[in-house]
Amino acid sequence: MHQEQQHSFVFGGDYNPEQWPESVWAEDVRLMREAHVNRVTVGVFSWSSLEPEEGRYDFGWLDTVMDLMHANGIGVVLATPTASPPPWFTFAHPEALPVTADGVRLVHGSRDTYNPAAPAYREAARRIAGALADRYGRHPALTMWHVHNEYGTVSYGPETDRAFRLWLADRYGDIAALNETWNSAFWSQKYSTFEHVLAPQATQYLPNPAHLLDFKRFSADTLRDALREQVAIVRAASPGVPVTTNFMLPSWNHYDQWDVAAEIDEVSIDHYPNARDIEGETHVAFGADLARSFNRGRPWVLMEQATSLIYDYAAARLFAKDPGRLARNTLQYLARGATGSLFFQWRSPRVGAEFFHSPMVPHAGEDSRVFREIVALGHTLSALAEIAEPPAAGRRVNDTRVAIVWDSTAWWASETKAMPSDDLAFLPAVRAVHRALWWQGIASDVVRLDQDLSGYDLVLVPSKIAASDAEAAALAAFVDAGGHAAIWYFAGSTDENLSVRPGGFSGAFAPLAGIRVEEHHPLAADEGIELSDGSLADAWAEYLQALGAEVLATFTHPPLAGRPAITRNRLGAGTVHYLATRLDAAALREHLARIAAEAGVTPDHPEAGNGVEIVRRYAGDGSYLFVFNHGTTPRTLDLTGHDLLRDRTLDGPVEVPPAGYLVLR
Ligand code: GLA
Repeated sequence: MHQEQQHSFVFGGDYNPEQWPESVWAEDVRLMREAHVNRVTVGVFSWSSLEPEEGRYDFGWLDTVMDLMHANGIGVVLATPTASPPPWFTFAHPEALPVTADGVRLVHGSRDTYNPAAPAYREAARRIAGALADRYGRHPALTMWHVHNEYGTVSYGPETDRAFRLWLADRYGDIAALNETWNSAFWSQKYSTFEHVLAPQATQYLPNPAHLLDFKRFSADTLRDALREQVAIVRAASPGVPVTTNFMLPSWNHYDQWDVAAEIDEVSIDHYPNARDIEGETHVAFGADLARSFNRGRPWVLMEQATSLIYDYAAARLFAKDPGRLARNTLQYLARGATGSLFFQWRSPRVGAEFFHSPMVPHAGEDSRVFREIVALGHTLSALAEIAEPPAAGRRVNDTRVAIVWDSTAWWASETKAMPSDDLAFLPAVRAVHRALWWQGIASDVVRLDQDLSGYDLVLVPSKIAASDAEAAALAAFVDAGGHAAIWYFAGSTDENLSVRPGGFSGAFAPLAGIRVEEHHPLAADEGIELSDGSLADAWAEYLQALGAEVLATFTHPPLAGRPAITRNRLGAGTVHYLATRLDAAALREHLARIAAEAGVTPDHPEAGNGVEIVRRYAGDGSYLFVFNHGTTPRTLDLTGHDLLRDRTLDGPVEVPPAGYLVLR
């Protein structure tokens, strides 16, 4: 296994030498050394170059690359190439091709052309992973295994139907239990045998939400099982070498992040935030906080980010990052616990689907702004190497007192098509809460309700449509022990299988909140409302009764005028807030500030907030403050410590320009 000389941040990117003649490899190594690159990810989509025909391997080029990297002190994150089966696979195993919900069988020509439930695919994936593990499992350049790339394929069709039925039979035991849970008497969907159940392909009208939810669970388990098989293979060949798989975050929910994290040694993420404004900065923090949380507070790997041009699918174009942003964003990830930064990718392909996505060595070559920024960043990371040292004791990042509940079942539930409003979406609700805290300089983790919550003062529960009895009990126990909670509209309205809880919506949490929700009053897409305290809101309203809770604000629009909109229930030392509408960003910030203050939570640093991001990372016996001014005007901040990037000691006011940052020991 590759040995590090000392503690250092990892720095490098996806490297695809098989796309270039060997003459370019020498230049690659020269430029990598110039930029202080110490890590490359190799082989992510190399299946057709490694196994050009079924069972015939060509490892010559990879042998040379592994040795070349080792000779130059560059560690290799070796990927299994299973996200992109070669064309021969498609012809040999047409049944393993993915099928869309509309029944269209896809063909090769892009990537991810496989059905993860197809035995032929799984077998081929195990075989190539095994061949790589045998050959490189003890290679001195190997620093980490990277299984697959962004597990995220969902497929329908006969292979899936077969696997789905087995999964259902295992979950329910007999068909009557499935019929009961799905309430399949509705619209005459009662099944007489598991053999008649199909994966939920396109239907005439709305499908059964419980069926959809189980299919999402099945798909997630299928991906997790595919991962698990490969992890076992590479682990057996390389004791002690960590294994990861890269999460596409936070936009994908094809699997349960907690479940997948439990299968691997280190969580890694691919992160592509908006390149153009402060939304991107809040997104960096969000992605990093998710990764750290999924990895249970331990360091995590930034497997991919872009140097500049980055896809903006909504805008249907790529946008460039402003000069300096690549380094600033990288330090934001480091502040929040990353082990360093890798980029997608080292060098752009001459041609290929992503040839205009920005790499470390652009088409313009080494004489370019981007490569100069990469070289400068490599030097900066070397200068900050002491921060890569693990902390002598305790946590690595801020003493986070606030937790936001992150739950795949809730996210999947919000996508089951029969919900009373599209505005019940999970991810935007979680993101809005995280962003509102960020603006106040308050760090947060994400948690699931069945984990130990005792280290937190405040637990926030936005858009958690489905909640089990055990989850409701866990939140109640947290509040009982003096914890504070805030619950948003509709949360806990159904159980974990999407059956509505009787007696009023938000039933899992309503007794805790001291409320009853009798009726929903979803708002139109363009409808805004104002609450009695002046808060602006949209999307959603409810006919709410306070049963013991104090009313903090009421609706003012008919027919709900005068009825509670925001309530607070005091239970011993704890409180439970309920928010029956979607507050706009300003009102959400204000209410969260109040809720946090009541819970005794203060910003992580007195100067943090309003676009100033300050995060403390622990290393060795000490700690380091990462300070960023994301605003558009200079900010004078009261800071103490040794400024590592400018080698000066600060003890008092210092002006930080817009887009400026400091790292203080
Ligand atoms: C993902 C993939 C990469 C590449 C980048 C481009 O995260 O893992 O292969 O497609 O996106 O943005």
